Amino acid sequence: MTDHWKPRTKAVHHGTRRSQYGETSEAIFLTQGFVYDTAEQSEARFIELGEDEYIYGRYGNPTVRMFEERIAALEGAEDAFATASGMAAVSGALMAGLKAGDHIVAARALFGSCLYICEEILTRYGVNVTFVDGTDIDQWREAVHSKTKLVFFESISNPTLELIDIEAVSEIAHKVGAKVIVDNVFATPVLQSSLSLGADVVIYSATKHIDGQGRCLGGVVCASKEFIRKTLEPYLKHTGGALSPFNAWVMLKGLETLDLRVQAQADSALALASELEGHSAIDRVIYPGLASHPHHALMKEQMTKGGTVFSVVVKGGKEAAFRVLNALDIMIISNNLGDSKSIATHPATTTHQRLTTEQRANLGISDGLLRFSVGLEDTDDLRVDLLNALKKV
Ligand SMILES: Cc1ncc(COP(=O)(O)O)c(C=O)c1O
Repeated sequence: MTDHWKPRTKAVHHGTRRSQYGETSEAIFLTQGFVYDTAEQSEARFIELGEDEYIYGRYGNPTVRMFEERIAALEGAEDAFATASGMAAVSGALMAGLKAGDHIVAARALFGSCLYICEEILTRYGVNVTFVDGTDIDQWREAVHSKTKLVFFESISNPTLELIDIEAVSEIAHKVGAKVIVDNVFATPVLQSSLSLGADVVIYSATKHIDGQGRCLGGVVCASKEFIRKTLEPYLKHTGGALSPFNAWVMLKGLETLDLRVQAQADSALALASELEGHSAIDRVIYPGLASHPHHALMKEQMTKGGTVFSVVVKGGKEAAFRVLNALDIMIISNNLGDSKSIATHPATTTHQRLTTEQRANLGISDGLLRFSVGLEDTDDLRVDLLNALKKV
């Protein structure tokens, strides 16, 4: 048992399965199937899979299992199920337990594809969805009722970096017997333990900080054994959202350095956001680690640092924002986040382009908004890069 290990030790060793060769680095079991010693053994495995037994890659794989066990240990979850992408994790966790006539409540400030699932797909299958301003606890209280099966939100949200009170929303949801699903991508397992704050299910796009170097797509759902094995696994193993063993290996190795990377990136984000506050070309700097952020007090309660992403609203709208992007020398223009390379994004024309102008306005996604995912470069170099680019405003 490794329960007494600290997170960094778990991140390096937990879940390791060594083959007969005793390899130091975890092996990639790049196989879709598994061989049985006898016909009786194959029959027995199809009746019930034992611990560390596998029958087919879509159902499970030893490298994938190492990743699942390691992230579950870091998250303090009983179990985890890895998926081909963050969206396979989100859609699986939402769809697996719902049926027509059920009701869910979701925060309005969701990543575009998450919003699409709630707004377009779930409703098509007869699930009733209520959207709330997630930061307003009264709205959650008014929205839940006896048919509410789950509540869903991101904290920190993308790209306006709002925080939702996980403990308060969990209490409200649990009173009506609803499960709480948190998309913890922006906060990361390093900076926020949503399960210990009351959430039942935590979801990651492993594509972000867990890989951390922009290589592979992946996702994972962390929850109780009951939810993972009884609700989620039957849905995911038949609908086909399995994580590839190669990508699982990349994610597994990513976990080893996750704490170091996220701590350094969050420190850098705080330094840069502080530096830019009050800059003459900027209307507003948004970073939960700054005292000026409306949810700074909540951040200090439920997170250990303010995250690796900050946003700014530049004066002069889209034109000025584009001039800043085009003048950046080190930061790259892209739409991923959590990468070792710093990434600048203009949400209104990329990640949130699908939304109507009114929806964007409601979420605070103005034409001057730029999101910066801070990487592992030297903070001083990033500061010079940003200050130079802001001269173009
Ligand atoms: C908050 C959030 N949730 C989910 C996802 C989906 O993850 P993926 O792209 O790995 O499917 C993303 C990003 O794409 C995200 O930013």
